[in-house]
Amino acid sequence: MKNIIFVGFMGAGKTAISRAIAEELNKTYVSTDGLIEKREGESISAIFEKKGEGYFREVEKSVIKEVCEQDDQVVDTGGGAVLDPENLDTFRKNGIVICLWADPETILARTKKHTHRPLLRTDDPKQRIQKLLEHRRPFYEKADFHVDTTMGNVTVIVERIVRHVTPLAGAYPEKAEERPGLRLWELLLAKLFQKAATPIMVTDSNGGVVFANTRFKRYFKVTGTNVSGRKWVDIVIPRSMRKAVATRFEKILKTSVACQFQVPVPDKNKGEKYFCWTASPLKEDHGLFVMFVGHPATGGRKKLVDIHPATNGEILDVILASSGEYAPDTARHSLRVMSYAASLAERLNMPPESIETLKIASLLHDIGKVAVDGRILLKKGKLEKHEFEEIKKHPGWSVAMIKPVSFLAPILPIVMSHHENYDGSGYPRGIKGKDIPLGARILSIADVYEALTTDRPYRKACTREEAVEILEDAKAWKLDPELTDIFLEMVRNGHLHEEPC
Ligand SMILES: [Fe+2]
Repeated sequence: MKNIIFVGFMGAGKTAISRAIAEELNKTYVSTDGLIEKREGESISAIFEKKGEGYFREVEKSVIKEVCEQDDQVVDTGGGAVLDPENLDTFRKNGIVICLWADPETILARTKKHTHRPLLRTDDPKQRIQKLLEHRRPFYEKADFHVDTTMGNVTVIVERIVRHVTPLAGAYPEKAEERPGLRLWELLLAKLFQKAATPIMVTDSNGGVVFANTRFKRYFKVTGTNVSGRKWVDIVIPRSMRKAVATRFEKILKTSVACQFQVPVPDKNKGEKYFCWTASPLKEDHGLFVMFVGHPATGGRKKLVDIHPATNGEILDVILASSGEYAPDTARHSLRVMSYAASLAERLNMPPESIETLKIASLLHDIGKVAVDGRILLKKGKLEKHEFEEIKKHPGWSVAMIKPVSFLAPILPIVMSHHENYDGSGYPRGIKGKDIPLGARILSIADVYEALTTDRPYRKACTREEAVEILEDAKAWKLDPELTDIFLEMVRNGHLHEEPC
């Protein structure tokens, strides 16, 4: 692979993004500033102060030449590296150059606390940023690719770069889809959990790791190639405890109950840190798997392993948090749908446990959209027939993702049927009337109302009055007429808690 070189102004996100891309592609991360500090034995700021910018630029040029003799690296450069055209030529010999941009306000906000930035030690840093940006613009514009990081989080930006830009350097992300024998639910869970902020792994019933997300690999210092198939205890449990944990864990596994346990982190360098794991059995058609969700534990110096039954809350939290990170728009939509569906269910005096089931179903009903091509989901204008066929698969995909998590079983009929129409014209099964589960009929009303009253990529939001009118029309074919009447009465009387968009 050619090198992937990140250039751009300080605060544009070079370090965070290049580190994440190196990890994603399993390549070496190199910071030219880091190498300069190592070589000179002092900080960039001290070099500037004692020897001046001219000296720094000379050292920088020589370090860049050395770095670019190697390939297969993701290189994070200093903000002024491209001011010397020779450096840009050196980068291009064996790499592609990506410039990250951000507007001056964002740069100021991101660099405010960076007192070590020598160029920003001034009374008016914003003006200094604007001036420097203008001066450097013609140099940055010579990069091969340009990515604005002002909006969007690191995960989204990294995904965009990995998908569209790094293949041009010969670097492709590891495609889960192409791993032989991977089942649909593994693929979907992997897609959803890959970027979660919490370490997650999935093992088979023999304890062999079948999936570990980026956070897990980073925390336990394992790479994609050496994690698959290894026993989970060998990675996360200190050597002296492995046997005991494995034996006790096997017993727990047989009971198929989620459990929680706390163990010290095996790496001595991390001192006395502990990790708390929640393990949840996943019963999939092809056998039993276990999903482990972990977080560093605070307090306590327990010697080991206090294995006890866990609540389902943490597993649910991780699924929700992951779907929120993966698809923030879908997550926000689902939260509002939940609020509307719960209001209607309460008005119908449904039992609390049914309302709880409906709320969880509302949060997860569209989770299967992670498998739909983003270009179709965000398409402006009418969908082609084959595109709509793709969209129609998402209730089934949501069910495929949720099904292995046994405590979520009650929400499956609701999730599966949330696009069925009252007259039988819906999908995926075309069932009608009261054959559609009550929860799904409620969810459908909430879903339609939410969709109408928020902006979509292809149209602006309707007013409340327009939405009411459309729901009235939809009673004739799409929505349960009795339930819709009750819902619309709540809307008209202001009894529906309207969630802000
Ligand atoms: Fe949906």
